[in-house]
Amino acid sequence: MADSPVVLSDVHKSFGAMTVLDGVSMDFPAGQTTAVIGPSGTGKSVLLKHIVGLLEPDRGEVRVFGTDMARASESARYAVRKRLGMLFQDGALFDSLTVGENIEFPLVQHRKDLSSTKRRERVAEVLKMVELPGIEARAISSLSGGQRKRVGLARAIVHSPEMVLFDEPNSGLDPMTSDAIDQLIGHLKRSLGITFVVITHDIVSTVNIADRIAMLYGGKLVAWGTVQEVLRSQEPVVRRFFSRNLVLPTGEGEPSLPGPQSG
Ligand SMILES: Nc1ncnc2c1ncn2[C@@H]1O[C@H](COP(=O)(O)OP(=O)(O)OP(=O)(O)O)[C@@H](O)[C@H]1O
Ligand SMILES: [Mg+2]
Repeated sequence: MADSPVVLSDVHKSFGAMTVLDGVSMDFPAGQTTAVIGPSGTGKSVLLKHIVGLLEPDRGEVRVFGTDMARASESARYAVRKRLGMLFQDGALFDSLTVGENIEFPLVQHRKDLSSTKRRERVAEVLKMVELPGIEARAISSLSGGQRKRVGLARAIVHSPEMVLFDEPNSGLDPMTSDAIDQLIGHLKRSLGITFVVITHDIVSTVNIADRIAMLYGGKLVAWGTVQEVLRSQEPVVRRFFSRNLVLPTGEGEPSLPGPQSG
């Protein structure tokens, strides 16, 4: 697992009497997109917060680029965060700052070597990448839901991280905008060649963008493997989760999506 930027070993996490993660061990292979799926409230966001060091496990270990996040010094954690990009579930854009200032924020934090001119050039570049060129001066409140997601995406990649974590990039979007975000993530993955972790409960989106799937249920990892492996899982809870939107294989043949996504 030397080639995985993130390795979780037997991670346990409870809040009061409620166990959220009950012994999760897995890794996120470099250069691949892993989708973390599971029903609402199952601990997907909690898992992600362990990776960025916002939460610490009660037991077990989370290593990011080899650093044990819970035991590392604040400066070591900072060094790890610099190498990560994060799109939070609620977007977490600062309403008091413009689009450009929001996207520039990680550069101000992590790239003190860059001049303000260089920073602004980089902001313009990533806005082009998310297909919103020239909107630096806009107010966050003037953006549509899909535009907010794109701006959040631009902010997540602006400092050229080695791994990007997305918490529900499609939530609250109509199917067409959701598809456009999937395509953008797919394009970014191919052009940047970095590791992506995408939390979603959108099954169509999962199949569209992921190389691998990890499914959490009841605090445990109930499925973990390539997309095709997980779609063939005979685990009842996994089949139930997918059967709402997908035609699962009965034995032979490839799983398929309904509608225009198939093929
Ligand atoms: N800081 C916290 N303190 C107490 N409980 C928490 C905390 N963070 C999360 N939880 C609880 O842990 C459980 C898992 O939450 P989490 O946000 O990880 O769910 P999720 O799988 O991301 O769900 P969704 O798909 O709705 O986003 C929930 O019951 C939530 O209320
Ligand atoms: Mg969540």
